[in-house]
Amino acid sequence: MAPSALICETQPWKDLKAHVDDIKKTHLRELMSDTERCQSMMIEFDGMLLDYSRQRATSDTLNKLKNLAEAAHLKEKINKMFNGERINSTEDRSVLHVALRAPRDSVINSDGKNVVPDVWQVLDKIKDFSERIRSGAWIGATGKALTNVIAVGIGGSFLGPLFVHTALQTDSEASEFAKGRQLRFLANVDPVDVARNITGLDPETTLVVVVSKTFTTAETMLNARTIREWISAALGPEAVAKHMVAVSTNLTLVEKFGIDPNNAFAFWDWVGGRYSVCSAVGVLPLSLQYGFAVVEKFLKGASSIDQHFHSAPIEKNLPVLLGLLSVWNVSFLGYPARAILPYTQALEKFAPHIQQVSMESNGKGVSIDGVPLPFEAGEIDFGEPGTNGQHSFYQLIHQGRVIPCDFIGVVKSQQPVYLKGEVVSNHDELMSNFFAQPDALAYGKTPEQLLKENVPHHLVTHKTFSGDRPSVSLLLPSLNAYNIGQVLLAIYEHRVAVEGFVWGINSFDQWGVELGKSLATQVRKQLNASRKKAEPVEGFNFSTTALLTRYLEASTD
Ligand code: F6P
Repeated sequence: MAPSALICETQPWKDLKAHVDDIKKTHLRELMSDTERCQSMMIEFDGMLLDYSRQRATSDTLNKLKNLAEAAHLKEKINKMFNGERINSTEDRSVLHVALRAPRDSVINSDGKNVVPDVWQVLDKIKDFSERIRSGAWIGATGKALTNVIAVGIGGSFLGPLFVHTALQTDSEASEFAKGRQLRFLANVDPVDVARNITGLDPETTLVVVVSKTFTTAETMLNARTIREWISAALGPEAVAKHMVAVSTNLTLVEKFGIDPNNAFAFWDWVGGRYSVCSAVGVLPLSLQYGFAVVEKFLKGASSIDQHFHSAPIEKNLPVLLGLLSVWNVSFLGYPARAILPYTQALEKFAPHIQQVSMESNGKGVSIDGVPLPFEAGEIDFGEPGTNGQHSFYQLIHQGRVIPCDFIGVVKSQQPVYLKGEVVSNHDELMSNFFAQPDALAYGKTPEQLLKENVPHHLVTHKTFSGDRPSVSLLLPSLNAYNIGQVLLAIYEHRVAVEGFVWGINSFDQWGVELGKSLATQVRKQLNASRKKAEPVEGFNFSTTALLTRYLEASTD
């Protein structure tokens, strides 16, 4: 089949290119003075408020972006995803993470088979298993209850569950159910990460969940063997059956590893690793920590956004609007990065999770048909909770490079503090910054303003803020299991998909991670040969040979 036309060859793309000059003529200060425009750029959904009035965009921009969405067949692509078509064409897979959180009675087909009953069969198994662990009905090899969990996994088998766990930790309802329990994550193959995970834990009271979609990832499998050894050494090899379970699509390899397949929790190849937090990958460890009922709320939140994403018209569709605005920022205004700035410490692991969701999905150089892209797709995501970030990289955001920002704020703190004699609570103080920063970026400060304030002439240029720096603000009523699933997980997942659909790339494969993996295999072989048989380093370039030789010489006792 002939490759379809690249999106940059379409008229709506060219119209947006031409429109950039119009937008550059108008400072955000002026755009913000148009109340009607600002009103039209606020959307409310299920108690949350999205304000995108500080985007460098007008109603004309939005109309042009809508035309672009049509030219990219966005709606059709979204429907294909929900209909289980094999839109991940390079891996010949459908993309159905939405099925992971679909209500029990819904029908979502993959290859003509409704997958929802399979999803619920695993969810029911997790509910039953996690209740047995939590109640002490399932005990360890020495008869003790398993109150601690180490989840061993990396990438998508780690980042999403870690983000949700970190966000729930201080939620009053969830934390109540987690009393007396610990959940830790072992991801890095670095022995330091192993040491940090096992320090202070007793194998007798520890359950290990090995999480790997493929069950072949080098880091995870080595860490799993290391932890298996830790358990065997303390409790004997037969204890592994009681202390180790697995989450994978590859149940054959799970069994080969020595984990009873009855204690394995399945998922499917139509779930991409970075989209797997709603599968057993996230649901099992989180249910062990917080109980299944809390995790079910998280799934319901994500599902509510799936329905909204599937059915809401473009102008009211949060993930679609956010995705289109990101495309506008990256491909037309030329801002390649995005800062994710949650004003709540509970979301400290949100940016690392979105880094994978976004950058592994959209960091591509060819179209879905394999045609090299004449434009750059993907964006550089990074972030830190406010106000910490303000004392770190915000200088660059205010006066250096232009980086569109996502400000995420919460009306009610998970852990409010009111100091006697102070009217403004700690949370008010935090939120003062959440409200102030987007305006500082948008309006800036002019030399005229500075001179009026008697700023010495030699400091005027230093103290000038150009402004005109775009952001969106997302204000949530609170932060709990439901809206963590809703806003933070599903909105961002779908926003990334929208960007990829518009750019015409495959957001669901990740061939870019393969080359480094295969080179590491070559190095591993060399290390083995050199250590076991003292073979010299061979087959590498000058630089790698020198580095490897130094490493071998210096690390040999
Ligand atoms: O980093 C590449 C990757 O394949 C990710 O996409 C995936 O989430 C991660 O490795 C872990 O893979 P697995 O779950 O198969 O161990």
